[in-house]
Amino acid sequence: MVPLTVYLPGGILLFWISREISHRWSLRRKAKAFGCESITNYPHLDPIGGLDLSVQIWREFHRGELSEGMRRRHEKFGPTFSTNSLGQDCIYTIDPENIRAVTTDNFDCYGKSAWVEEAAKHVGNGILMSDGENWKRSRAVLKPLFARTALDEPTLVEPHLQDLVQVIRGNNGQPFDFQVLAARFTLDIVTDFLFGKSTQSLLGGKAAEDARHFLGLVKDFEPPSGTFIAVGALAWLELLPSYRRLLHVVDGMKAFFRSQLDMIISDPGLHSQSAAPSCFRMMESDGVGVGQIQAELQNIFFASFDTTTALLANIIGILSQRQDIQQQLRAEISYLNGNPPTKQDLGGLSFLRFVLLEALRLYSPVVSHSRQATRDTTLPRGGGSDGLGQIFVAAGATIVWSTYALNRSQRYYGQTWAEFKPERWKTLQPTSNRFFMPFGSGPRSCMGQQMAQTEISYMIVRILQEFPVIASQDLRPFKEAKAVSFYNTYDTDANTGVYAEQAEDPN
Ligand code: HEM
Repeated sequence: MVPLTVYLPGGILLFWISREISHRWSLRRKAKAFGCESITNYPHLDPIGGLDLSVQIWREFHRGELSEGMRRRHEKFGPTFSTNSLGQDCIYTIDPENIRAVTTDNFDCYGKSAWVEEAAKHVGNGILMSDGENWKRSRAVLKPLFARTALDEPTLVEPHLQDLVQVIRGNNGQPFDFQVLAARFTLDIVTDFLFGKSTQSLLGGKAAEDARHFLGLVKDFEPPSGTFIAVGALAWLELLPSYRRLLHVVDGMKAFFRSQLDMIISDPGLHSQSAAPSCFRMMESDGVGVGQIQAELQNIFFASFDTTTALLANIIGILSQRQDIQQQLRAEISYLNGNPPTKQDLGGLSFLRFVLLEALRLYSPVVSHSRQATRDTTLPRGGGSDGLGQIFVAAGATIVWSTYALNRSQRYYGQTWAEFKPERWKTLQPTSNRFFMPFGSGPRSCMGQQMAQTEISYMIVRILQEFPVIASQDLRPFKEAKAVSFYNTYDTDANTGVYAEQAEDPN
């Protein structure tokens, strides 16, 4: 008699193989019915669970090569190919036509991916983490609110910029970790915008201590969240032993938000101190309940804080290594004679705009996106031998697109795709081309795009005005950190980093 230890695994294996064959057969039939052509399949070693690729992605994440791994796979298997991700269909694409189909043309056929549901349990069901009717409601509440606040942006930034300058000055030309300062600077601005009261984490005192503790929690939260986004359910294998600690980190972050809210609720006069009406006050006067306000504010925080911090840090990192670009920027802003730029001034600084666009191309904070099909549908490209035919997408399939790989396509950026070359934007029109979308596209595109661009452009101009030299002693190439956004691992090295020289005192 066959022993159970042989019989049982054999039975399970047979079940999975027959299930996989029948699934493939059904996909082929439906694809035919939809008039679709066949797609390139990733050559899995484990065609049933796709474990080989998941483990590879996991390793790439830990080696700081997650995005580069995606780029290399696209180079090898083409702009669109399908994989098996832990038994689920997954389509990787960097074809802009497919990305537009998912985000815009067939918007109703997709929802956010499964990991977002898990994140929403902790971060709250707000704009970033919701779908369907909930998302529509959030977007409708926040849209007019963003329109009202964005106008005052430079005045919102300047006080925090002064704090930043003061901290850098206090360093007396010694190296400092700009990633840490960028995080404090961004937190101070975003809390001003959300609550009408800044944490002033760049300065000292009790409030700054609490804020820095909160930033520590956010930093602890980065690697596990990044693992989750990279490998999905497989991440539990790594995260389970530290799950209690993770929950503690999440609770700490929520408590920080609650304490900020309690503070402004208990002091209705606080709104008069900020340069613009805060998100909280506007939602409060629109009649939104406190619970929902907290969820929305947490969601806006997670959408804005990490992205802006990463881009700020990355741009200062580039400028500190590229004195040639710094010189061109200094020449362009010299007409301001050291006066802070207005919003109108910022709009006229074309080289600054090119630098920002190039930074968004090569150092885009959001390196990849995903959506899950909620019903059977199609994508316009990736089928047949030339890849130009329509392909079938089964309900439940995940579509992943890497902005990192798309922004490094030789097809769109020529032989110099790997170079940081702001001048390329003289001829490339970001608004009319269909392949550049650092703020996403379609109905769920970034709500803070204008704010982020103003804040970052303003900070660059003001830092250059305040410090005649920004340089780095660390010339190692960028290495992707284990995080959600595209951070450089090396920026956190306290012995290296960026330093700024102060202007000579004319007296
Ligand atoms: C350099 C900075 C930023 C970048 C690169 C960026 C990028 C993005 C991208 C790509 C999306 C779309 C995500 C998706 O399709 O799933 C998004 C969504 C969003 N962003 Fe930003 N963002 C930045 C800064 C900000 C700021 C400063 C705010 C607000 C103050 C903000 C608020 C939002 C919100 C609320 C959403 C969700 C929109 C929705 O789901 O309807 N972002 N952002």
